[in-house]
Amino acid sequence: SVMKEVSGLEELELQLRAILNIEEVIIVAGDSDENELVKKEMGRACASRMKKAFSTDNIIAITGGSTVAAVAEMLTPTVDERNIMFFPARGGLGENVQSQANTIVAKMAEKTMGQYKLLHVPDQVSDDVYSSLVEEPAIKETLEMIQQCSMVVHGIGDAITMAKRRKTDAETIQKISDGQAVGEAFGYYFDADGNVVHKVRTIGLQLENLENVPCIIAVAGGASKAKAIAAVVKQRQGRKTILVTDEGAANELVRLK
Ligand code: BG6
Repeated sequence: SVMKEVSGLEELELQLRAILNIEEVIIVAGDSDENELVKKEMGRACASRMKKAFSTDNIIAITGGSTVAAVAEMLTPTVDERNIMFFPARGGLGENVQSQANTIVAKMAEKTMGQYKLLHVPDQVSDDVYSSLVEEPAIKETLEMIQQCSMVVHGIGDAITMAKRRKTDAETIQKISDGQAVGEAFGYYFDADGNVVHKVRTIGLQLENLENVPCIIAVAGGASKAKAIAAVVKQRQGRKTILVTDEGAANELVRLK
């Protein structure tokens, strides 16, 4: 589009695709660290990219976070006949209500006139509770949907920021910082090379499951998330990931290269 050429964002998209070695990058103008409106624009760009990827039947796993919440706000009903089912990718990752995946799936279903399933799992579960939870019919049903998932939409966070936001215990924070984790996505903490340093033990989508998902969209921006974004998408080298980000993160990623 003309606007994009004028702002040079298309050029930046090409550069970032090469740096991150991923299939597709969509960049919106501005830096969401500095301006809340930019997060809304990432939400808009992500929502329209999701709609482009919709087929007749859609089973969509999403994570929590303020960025994915912004995506929900921008979704609209589909024009064609579409079956759309939203569900949380993983349960109990310690978010406040507005940023919880459970809240966001309900919102996405409402906006698209689709359906949703919740995943009720407490934040920290013991071994015993964990093994009986996965046998619960409602949870089992959601876990089975993961196998047929057609799309994953997830946020990315700075590792230490996310560990603190989740009120992680001191010992685990130590493990995360000793392991030099820089990025976090769906409860996995990654170092700069994309190695898993720590993983929140919860029910739902596991890293391995991503391999079978045809469409994966990561949505995260702000210069402060540049290292996190690189760490998270790095472990997916050669795999299909669509990154929706902003100019702030993109410029920083180019600078760090
Ligand atoms: C959390 C996800 O809900 O949101 C994390 O579980 C993600 O995996 C985080 O990193 C991102 O949050 P935000 O508010 O920065 O978009």
